[in-house]
Amino acid sequence: MINNDIKIIGLIGNPVKHSKSPQMHNALFAKLNLKYEYLAFNVAAGELERAVAGLKALNFAGANVTVPHKVAIIPYLDAISPEVVAIGAVNTVVNKDGRLVGYNTDGAGYLQSLLTETGISLADKSVLILGAGGATRAIAYTLAQEPLAELTILNRNLDKAAAIANNLSVNFPTKIAIIDEINNFVAEADIIINTTTVGMSPHINQTLVPQELIHAGQLVSDIVYNPLETRLLREAAEQGAKTHSGLGMFINQGAIAFEKWTGITPDTDFMRETVLAALAENEDD
Ligand code: ATR
Repeated sequence: MINNDIKIIGLIGNPVKHSKSPQMHNALFAKLNLKYEYLAFNVAAGELERAVAGLKALNFAGANVTVPHKVAIIPYLDAISPEVVAIGAVNTVVNKDGRLVGYNTDGAGYLQSLLTETGISLADKSVLILGAGGATRAIAYTLAQEPLAELTILNRNLDKAAAIANNLSVNFPTKIAIIDEINNFVAEADIIINTTTVGMSPHINQTLVPQELIHAGQLVSDIVYNPLETRLLREAAEQGAKTHSGLGMFINQGAIAFEKWTGITPDTDFMRETVLAALAENEDD
C-alpha cells in the first residue's frame, strides 16, 4: 500500500546502480526524521520524456538527474534556473506545486568544497582545467564568477573547450588548447583541476599531468572520488602541492539539492561519513 505521507525523491540516469546518492540522502532523511525516501531509477534515453511526466503524475517531491540525461531533460521541465541557462545542464529537480523546476548544484557544490576544504583564495589565481565535459561546464561557469586572473581549458576535443570558453562572460580571460600541449601550461598554473574521467576506477593508473611539472605552492584538484586519492593527487602530494579530492563536490552538490527539496541545511560531515562507509562497502564486494 502506498503511504501518501512519504515524499519521494527520484534519481534518474543510466546507469544508476553505483550511485551513492540514495545512501547519502536516505541516511539524512532517517537522521532528521523526515518522511522522505530517495529511490534510483534506471531510465533509457527514449523513455526520458515519459519518466519526467511520471515524476509529475506521481507527485514526486523532486529528483536528481545524472548521466546521460542532464542536458536532454531541459525541454521536459516547466522552468529552469539562471545557472541552468548558463551551464546548459540540470542535476536537481524540485516539484513546486506541480511544476518541475530544474537547477544545477554541481558548480556551487564544487566551489563550496574547494573553498572550505582547502581555505584557498581564488583572487588573481590562474586556473587550469583539464576536460570539457558536462562537469566542466558547471565548474567553469561557477569559477568565472570569481575574481580569477585567468582560466585555461585543455581538452582532447578542442571544439568542446571552445564552446565552454565562448559561453563564459565575454570579458573573462579564457584560453583554450589541446590537451597534448599540457606541458606548456602546468607549471604556470596556481590551481589545476582534473574534470576528466582519467584516473577513475578501474583505470586508476592513468593521469594526464606529468608529475615533474607539478610543484609546491600549487593546488591540484580532481573531481574523481573513486578512488578517493587518484594517481594525480598522489603524485601532486609527492611534489609538495596541496590536493583536493572529488568527494567534497559530490557531498556538497547533494547538500545543496537536499536543501532545495527540504528547506533544511544538512550536516555535510555526516554525509561524508555515510558516503565513505558506502564506498568502503564496495571495496568488500
Ligand atoms: P561529464 O559530462 O560527466 O563531464 P563527459 O562528457 O564524458 O563526462 O566528459 C569526460 C571528459 O573527459 C571529456 O572532456 C573527455 O574529453 P573529450 O571531450 O575530448 O572526449 C575527457 N576524457 C575522457 N577520457 C580521456 C582521455 N583518455 N584523455 C583525455 N581526456 C579524456
